[in-house]
Amino acid sequence: VWRCQSCIGPVDLESWSEPHGPVPEGIGFGRFRRWLPAAEPVSIGEVTTALVPFTWPPGSSTEVLLKTEGSLPTGSFKDRGSSFLVGRLRSDGVAGITVDSSGNAGASIAAYGAAAGLRVRVYVPASASTAKLAQIRAYGAEVVAVEGTRQAVGEAAVAAATDEFVYASHVWSPYFIVGTQTFAFDVFEQLGLRAPDAIVCPLGAGTLLLGSYYAFRGLVDAGLCERMPALYGVQTVRCAPLARAWSKTRAVESGDCSASIAEGILIASPPRAKAVLEAVRETRGAVVAVEEHEIRSAVLALARRGVYAEPTAAVSAAALDRVSREVGGEGDAVVVAAITATGLKASGLIDELLTSAEAQ
Ligand SMILES: Cc1ncc(COP(=O)(O)O)c(C=O)c1O
Repeated sequence: VWRCQSCIGPVDLESWSEPHGPVPEGIGFGRFRRWLPAAEPVSIGEVTTALVPFTWPPGSSTEVLLKTEGSLPTGSFKDRGSSFLVGRLRSDGVAGITVDSSGNAGASIAAYGAAAGLRVRVYVPASASTAKLAQIRAYGAEVVAVEGTRQAVGEAAVAAATDEFVYASHVWSPYFIVGTQTFAFDVFEQLGLRAPDAIVCPLGAGTLLLGSYYAFRGLVDAGLCERMPALYGVQTVRCAPLARAWSKTRAVESGDCSASIAEGILIASPPRAKAVLEAVRETRGAVVAVEEHEIRSAVLALARRGVYAEPTAAVSAAALDRVSREVGGEGDAVVVAAITATGLKASGLIDELLTSAEAQ
């Protein structure tokens, strides 16, 4: 069952996490399974991703912390969700799955599916980065490229799913979000068992933002953490249904999305929109949208200082000066920005970006 039968919305869990006792020891996010309502996650050798001190904007003295998720096995934060989602599907006895993705989730689910012995079919936009498509195929998954919007890709995947290849979308399944909570558990541990003032992350469907929310909610409710971090979601102006809803405080309307170098966050109708907006409101964060030129500058500014991020991942950095100003206080606020994937995922886009920067 991939969505609630009566309300046709996404399925929620009664309890998203139950942190207790000391932080589970070990390396990699799989150790947090003891805090999560999860089956045994699949592992392909995860590391604990770094929290890198960085001054931003470049040239300023404001310090932020970048959580560099590109060092996970398939090069993006999606591995957190896939490990737990595929673990659950394996324990349910599923043999084959159909997913839809802009590329990173597809590659990640293909990798974890391969490790778990599941057959995987991935529906992607025909415009997806070639590195992501090659990665999905290399893991042995079948790729079905669909012309049209990201929405059309999702609809094609749902229509094509069978009992042999059940629909198990990372955007809809709560078990993917079970896994993305480990991002926040890492941050909590790396900061010495406390929450940062703010977490900034790219925002498409909201699996990372919601995972961060549920994890800190669990830690606060369990009395292990004093307060919630303010959650900031970053969209591109080319596809900003949640930023628009946030700024006008009205219901989400699915709008048109046009092509953007932030190819991973082009979700016109995020199924968990209401929950995302509530999480942002409750934590006193915001949803903002950045311009294409701001994303391009962020990719280059990060890379010129050693952090190679694909454009979708760099949107957090593109919004950082706005966020730092908002939460700045006395200048000692702790702001964590999720750099969600390596630039190796989108070398074609970065190559074009460099060519146009050099021509100017
Ligand atoms: C690199 C990267 N960052 C962030 C996101 C957005 O994640 P979410 O849809 O969970 O908001 C994606 C989604 O594909 C992505 O590929």
